[in-house]
Amino acid sequence: MLPNKYCSLFSSPFPSVIQRGNVDFSLSSSSFLNNSNGLISGVTVVSYPRKASGFVGVVLASKEPNHRPISNVVFEPFEELKKELLHVPSVPQVSLARHLYTDRCEAAINDQINVEYNVSYVYHAMYAYFDRDNVALKGIAKFFKDSSVEERQHAEMFMDYQNKRGGKVVLQSMLMPIAEYDHPEKGDALYAMELALSLEKLNNEKLLNLHIMANEVNDVHLADFIETEFLTEQVESIRKLSEYVAQLRRAGKGHGVWHFDLMLSNQLVTA
Ligand SMILES: [Fe+2]
Ligand SMILES: [Fe+2]
Repeated sequence: MLPNKYCSLFSSPFPSVIQRGNVDFSLSSSSFLNNSNGLISGVTVVSYPRKASGFVGVVLASKEPNHRPISNVVFEPFEELKKELLHVPSVPQVSLARHLYTDRCEAAINDQINVEYNVSYVYHAMYAYFDRDNVALKGIAKFFKDSSVEERQHAEMFMDYQNKRGGKVVLQSMLMPIAEYDHPEKGDALYAMELALSLEKLNNEKLLNLHIMANEVNDVHLADFIETEFLTEQVESIRKLSEYVAQLRRAGKGHGVWHFDLMLSNQLVTA
């Protein structure tokens, strides 16, 4: 045990100061605590006369490093940092920011980037079809053009996220979308909207699988990112496209589609 006269030193930040007459002694934490018998032996003490104005810069350093475990301490930053420092990459090709981000998450994010790009590509093909002079459904064309841009933005959000977590974006191949959307029974507008509805449901499944995977590897941040940025928007897209499919089934293939197209040209909506 330490002598009582020194106990109060623990409550003050180091270096602590002991007064002996008109001389101040400063004790570093390591030097003081290294003594199991409570004596100050083995410690380098540098002392200076105390001035009336107060402390004049007393410095004391231990001769030996402190390896003694400290009890009742919640967080020892410099002790716990040692293992983290071992993992700081030293080669420039490796991310410095990457922390608790698994290869599985990295690969799954790259897959989702590809899904979003593919959906964007299909919507872009639909835009090109409905914008043809002999089709001329401008409202539907605009809807698919805006939807294509939005899906590309989704791809970019996942790219930003990949970089934020220290992963590497690897873009993958895309399949060529179909160019013709005229269906003998359904017509082009209904057929394209049914395709879009199926695509959004498929995308929703991919996002939910990504969320399940994030939970499996305890990546709370990735799970939160998918929930916050994508899942609600995806459900709303499915709802909106379902309404369009229902409306087009009522409208038929002729004059009704022209009215539907006018309605879409006056709205700011995307899939
Ligand atoms: Fe999307
Ligand atoms: Fe979407």
